[in-house]
This record gives sequence, structure tokens and C-alpha cells, in this order.
Amino acid sequence: MGTEYLSGGFLSNGSCAGGESNGKKMRKVVASHVLHSVRLDSLLVKRREEAEELVSFVYNQCIRNNVDSVINVRLVARRYCGNVIRKIMFSRRYFGEGKNSGGPGFQEEEHVESLFIVLNHIYSFILSDYIPWLRVLDLEGHERIVSDAMRTISKYHDPIIDERVRQWRCGKKKEAEDLLDAFISAKDENGKPWLSVPEIKAQCTELMVATVDNPSNAVEWAIAEMINQPDILKKATDEIDRVVGKERLVQESDIPHLNYVKACLREAFRIHPVAPFNVPHVSTCDASIAGYFIPKGSHILLSRQGLGRNPEVWEDPLKFKPERHINLADHHHQVELTEPELKFISFSRGRRGCMGVALGSEMTVMLLARLLHGFDWSVPSNEEKIDLAESKFDLFMAKPLHARAMPRLPAELYPA
Ligand code: HEM
Repeated sequence: MGTEYLSGGFLSNGSCAGGESNGKKMRKVVASHVLHSVRLDSLLVKRREEAEELVSFVYNQCIRNNVDSVINVRLVARRYCGNVIRKIMFSRRYFGEGKNSGGPGFQEEEHVESLFIVLNHIYSFILSDYIPWLRVLDLEGHERIVSDAMRTISKYHDPIIDERVRQWRCGKKKEAEDLLDAFISAKDENGKPWLSVPEIKAQCTELMVATVDNPSNAVEWAIAEMINQPDILKKATDEIDRVVGKERLVQESDIPHLNYVKACLREAFRIHPVAPFNVPHVSTCDASIAGYFIPKGSHILLSRQGLGRNPEVWEDPLKFKPERHINLADHHHQVELTEPELKFISFSRGRRGCMGVALGSEMTVMLLARLLHGFDWSVPSNEEKIDLAESKFDLFMAKPLHARAMPRLPAELYPA
């Protein structure tokens, strides 16, 4: 069935894709010029730098607090996602000058916070999606909130993008070294720049928004669930020790061998999606699916919790049990984070499915594997168990996960 997003583009203010043909053009540029495997391979060094920084950031907190330290895992995970996407998009970790791994500065925090504000509003209900003339009244106040967040994001992105466009135009830049270069240098069949500067700006924001929430949310929930079930935590850590050893850090090339770690992440996506529903879609033609007739123009919302926690599909659906994703009968079975049968939603599928499956999977597995390999995790001494309550407003953990971390590798392995 053909579907489009309810508001035309991925971002609800419609700043990127106004209609089907524009949406198609954007997908084509992103798939063929920006997120293809050769480009992602060329950005491996940048991703590796951020994976080093991740370990060093947590290690420095442990050292500062006398080896045994309570870590804000949500902050660590979101910071890593923000750092990775800024690095591969703009070739820089920070917007400000002269920062080191002492912690995210105000600018980076404000940047990631604004991306999350935009994200939360993509999923939220708004009357004018159904009665468009109400939009001018902005009854829910969403228009103002999202516009403010977009202004903040633009404040950081625009000077970098404008300067880079200038460098390409004056011939100072000729080789694409990051995703921004890839957007600027993409040419159509007539050799003309494929995207205008406003389209490049919208695409940079779209990819930033698309990157920060899923990996950080899945890893925060996975670690929380695993701390409460130490046998699972041990099994995952044992797997990493077996595959990687204790003389080097986990690398992306290890990912194919980390089936149990990936099963833990699948389980986090299944039980703890980032939002109750998928991004709203509108059907572009009449269709029949599973015996239901869906007329053209219908608004379609898929319940992620309804799928992932469906007792008819999943035995004991609320239990965090990674083993259910491992096919014991097939020793060559590779666990993937994708779920093509949509028994739960991770990357979704179809013509509006996620365009960042490879990058998103790498980031998510590296984030969890590095944290498990580098540190022993446990409940803070003043608590008995990690509180797994969900927030009333979204499906994030109600309280950001705070957990005790203890370095578990030889000191010389932790990047300075
Ligand atoms: C674990 C990580 C990720 C997960 C679980 C995830 C999941 C999703 C989902 C569920 C959708 C909506 C699909 C639909 O509406 O049917 C989506 C859309 C999208 N994702 Fe991801 N995503 C991840 C990471 C990324 C990354 C790293 C990028 C790129 C840098 C990315 C780029 C996109 C784009 C561009 C869309 C919109 C596609 C369109 O407009 O047609 N995602 N993603």
C-alpha cells in the first residue's frame, strides 16, 4: 500500500518535503548520495572517534569519583548520539570551541534538547492535522514550541552550512568528507545541484532528528532491564569478552558476532519503543490489508506497543527475555535489529521505512557493547532495583537511568 506522512514531510512544520514528488526526491538523494554503504564506510573513522570518546567520558567520571560512580546513562547515551551525528554530518563534535571530554557544553545540550522537542511533537496529536484551517489558531501551542526549537537548531546549523556551501561554490572544497558535503555535492541528471540550500538545511535537521532518539532510548532501557536481571547482563558481557577479549575495545567489525547483545536490543525495541504509535501515515490509494478495506486518504496509526506486547504473538510479552530472538536450531543465524514481519516496530519497512538502518544499527550496538564491555553496571547503593516505570507523557523511562559503573578493563585501554 502507498502511504505518505500525515504532514507531508518527516518534520511536522513541513520544512522539508512538501508533497509526494518532493518526498521522493529527498529519499532518492539520501539513499543514492548520502547514506549508501560506501559513504558510511568512509565515515568509520569519525564514528570510531566518538565510540572512543564515549568510553573515555564514562571512565573520567569513574576516576573523578574514586572509581565507583553513579552515571546518568540517559545523558551518556544521548550525548553519544548527538556527538556521532554532528561528527559525521559536520565533521565536528562540538559547536563551541576548545571543548574536551569534561561533559557536554551548553550548546550541545541545547542542540540535542531541541532535537528531542521536535521529535516529541512529530508523534503528538494535533487537531489541525484533521481540520487544517485551525492551524492558524495554534490551539495546542505546538506550532510555537516547534518553531522555537527549529530556530535553536538553525542557530547552530545554518552558519556551518552557509560557510560550507560557500567553500564548494568558490572551489575551496572539492571532496565530500561528511554528510553535509554529500548533500551539497549531489547532482541531478543534468549535472545541476540536486538540492537548494533550504532543502540541504531541512535534510540535515531531518537526519539529526532521526538519529538521536532510538539508539539512546533502546540502550537506556536495555541496561536498566539487564541490571534488574544480572544473569542476562552477565551473558551479554561474557559474549563480548569471548568475541573481543580484554585487550582491546569493541569495534564495528565485531557486531556480526554479538548475537546476544543484539537480541537484548531487539528486546528493548519490542517492549520499549520510543513512541506509542508509528509516525502517522496517510494512504495514497485504496487498499485491502489483512481483510480490512483502507480507503484512500485514511490516516493510519500503527500501535507499536500493541504489536510488540501482543500476547498472541509473544509469550509472556512484558518479560525482558532476549533468548526469544535467538534461533537455537540455526547456528549461522544472524540476529538483526530490523523486524521485516512487523511483529514489533524497530525500523519499520516499506516506502517510508527508515533510511538509516545500517547506521542506526551500528550506533545502537556500539553504544551498548562499549558500555557493557568497558564497565560493570549495578544498582546505586541507595536503591534495591532499577525503577522501570514509564513516563506518563511518552515512553521514555520515567526517571533517567542512573546506575553504578566500575571500569572492568586494564586502565591503559581507556582512551585518554
Ligand atoms: C536505531 C536507530 C533507528 C531506528 C530504530 C529508526 C526507526 C525509524 C522509523 C520507525 C521510522 C519511520 C518509518 C515509518 O514511518 O514507516 C524512521 C524513519 C526515518 N529514519 Fe530512522 N531509525 C533509526 C536511525 C536512523 C538514522 C541513524 C538515520 C539517518 C541518519 C535515520 C533516517 C531516517 C529517515 C530519513 C526517516 C524518514 C524516511 C522517510 O521520510 O521516508 N534513521 N526511522
